[in-house]
Amino acid sequence: MTDPGRHQPELRLTRPDLDALPNYVPGRSPADLARELGLPEAIKLASNEVPYGPLPGVVEAVAGAAAGVHRYPDMGALALREALSERYGVHVDQIATGCGSVALAEHLVRATCLPGDEFLYAWRSFEAYPIIAATSGATSVRVPNDAAHGHDLAAMAAAVTDRTRLIVVCNPNNPTGTSVRRAELDRFLDTVGEDVLVVIDEAYREFVTDPDVPDGLTYLDRPNVVVLRTLSKAWGLAGLRIGFLVAQPAVAAAIRKVVTPFSSNMAAQAGALAALAQADEVRRRCALVVSERDRVTEALRKLVPDVPDSQANFVWLPLGDRAVDFGKACEARGVIVRPFAGDGVRVTIGTPAENDAFLAAAETALA
Ligand SMILES: Cc1ncc(COP(=O)(O)O)c(C=O)c1O
Repeated sequence: MTDPGRHQPELRLTRPDLDALPNYVPGRSPADLARELGLPEAIKLASNEVPYGPLPGVVEAVAGAAAGVHRYPDMGALALREALSERYGVHVDQIATGCGSVALAEHLVRATCLPGDEFLYAWRSFEAYPIIAATSGATSVRVPNDAAHGHDLAAMAAAVTDRTRLIVVCNPNNPTGTSVRRAELDRFLDTVGEDVLVVIDEAYREFVTDPDVPDGLTYLDRPNVVVLRTLSKAWGLAGLRIGFLVAQPAVAAAIRKVVTPFSSNMAAQAGALAALAQADEVRRRCALVVSERDRVTEALRKLVPDVPDSQANFVWLPLGDRAVDFGKACEARGVIVRPFAGDGVRVTIGTPAENDAFLAAAETALA
């Protein structure tokens, strides 16, 4: 163990600007909370996972891959890219995989922004964006959401400058669940022009039921559009860390060049291939989530009338200054949700029993 006498906190060896960065907040461990409360178990509705366990065949595929882990994985993840290419009707050269779509978002910023270049996104949105921007040297430009908690695309278009290199449209938006519709996205992309890369972050695409919310893949005839997807949510592979992007071949090739070597690991590639063979089961699970999403939204609106419509696997409670207390009150009842101080609370849709436990906690917390 390191001699603690040699530990000098005043000796600065890392960048001072990192002090101002917020930490990425992972959902709290349910085992910890259960121990603290003396309960047999706690319920985690904080990280937008799907609650139904790994898809059939995934555990076996991962176990099979384990026999080969003394070797490096296929760095190009070719078999996986071929399966994705077939599933989504795009060329294999248009795809890059990475250690979760969050890593791909980071690579996209690195591949587009030099220090001082601008990375534009809505706020509040996915909490990783500002962290990625700060560590890459890009300047974050955040455009406040509109009164309905969704992207203000007109304001975002107006915020583009000649330093803007990358824009993210998070659709549906994490954490508010709101979505942009096709007509407004068309207008936005027309206004922005083709010399700025626009990433449509579709981590929650599989839960979208509104036909007016466009599939980002239908925009790939525009050379500056990148679609970011993950296998963490609907496909149930959050713990394996695998995501992908689809873009024009030159952009995908640039990302494959800057990606951390071998970061689409062997177990993740095998698990993803097995998961992709389970599209019917994914559809079935998503339908369960969507039906619970509607039920939970309706129940919550009796307590918090302005809960926005969600197209994702979570709902947003715009509680403002009450967010943190609400989160604590839910935890005291064994339910972990995700408060954003001063803003709101994001609650993942779980099983019907988990959602009932949350609704009971919410009712008490807001009484
Ligand atoms: C909008 C959005 N994008 C990307 C991600 C990253 O997902 P992953 O890195 O697990 O693929 C998340 C995860 O919460 C998200 O909400």
